[in-house]
Amino acid sequence: MNTQQKIEELIKIAEEIINFKGLDIAKNANHSVPGEGDPDAKIVFIGEAPGQVEDSTGRPFVGQSGQLMRKTLTETTGIKPEEVFITNIVKFRPPDNRDPMPNEIEACRDWLDRQIDVIRPKIICTLGRYSMAKFIPDVSISRVHGQPRFVEFLGQKYIIFPMYHPAAALRGTGVLNEFKQDFNKLKNLLNPVSVPQNIPEEKPVVTQPSLF
Ligand code: URA
Repeated sequence: MNTQQKIEELIKIAEEIINFKGLDIAKNANHSVPGEGDPDAKIVFIGEAPGQVEDSTGRPFVGQSGQLMRKTLTETTGIKPEEVFITNIVKFRPPDNRDPMPNEIEACRDWLDRQIDVIRPKIICTLGRYSMAKFIPDVSISRVHGQPRFVEFLGQKYIIFPMYHPAAALRGTGVLNEFKQDFNKLKNLLNPVSVPQNIPEEKPVVTQPSLF
């Protein structure tokens, strides 16, 4: 897909999200938050769900935790936020920022899968446990954050790089330090000569519901 085709596809997905009224959180949203960034991005960041500032602007990761994420990205890697693609597992704000529910994740799954498949980045950075669980199930974020692994997803091989959610980094200095260190590791991953040769492989992720 060339860049123009990617832009058209991403706009089509965003329009579907904006027009969707099949969930209460979609009906109650001030703005849906499809995601934004470079259609040719080498890195896609996936968070959990929009918060209040995202709901009032329609843009992902622009509140307090988003500002930390965007600033740390640029300070450590030199990459500007507009050079990556930033999106969420769930595209509408859950009330009082509660955790997303399984039916909400499922209703938004196809849009995220298509966004990834259009962009086909080299690295997918998951922010927090919900986006991590999409690619690396049954692990604890405190054990695996900052450790890249290859995952086959929709027939493509991606480096999945699990990171803490920036909201967790805002809550405590320990996590904040680890969050920053992980961005330094991400910088090294982007340098082809330093990509570790021993990145472990996960089993392919099944995204279609099982028939049995
Ligand atoms: N937290 C998220 O997970 N996503 C956002 O877009 C904002 C805050």
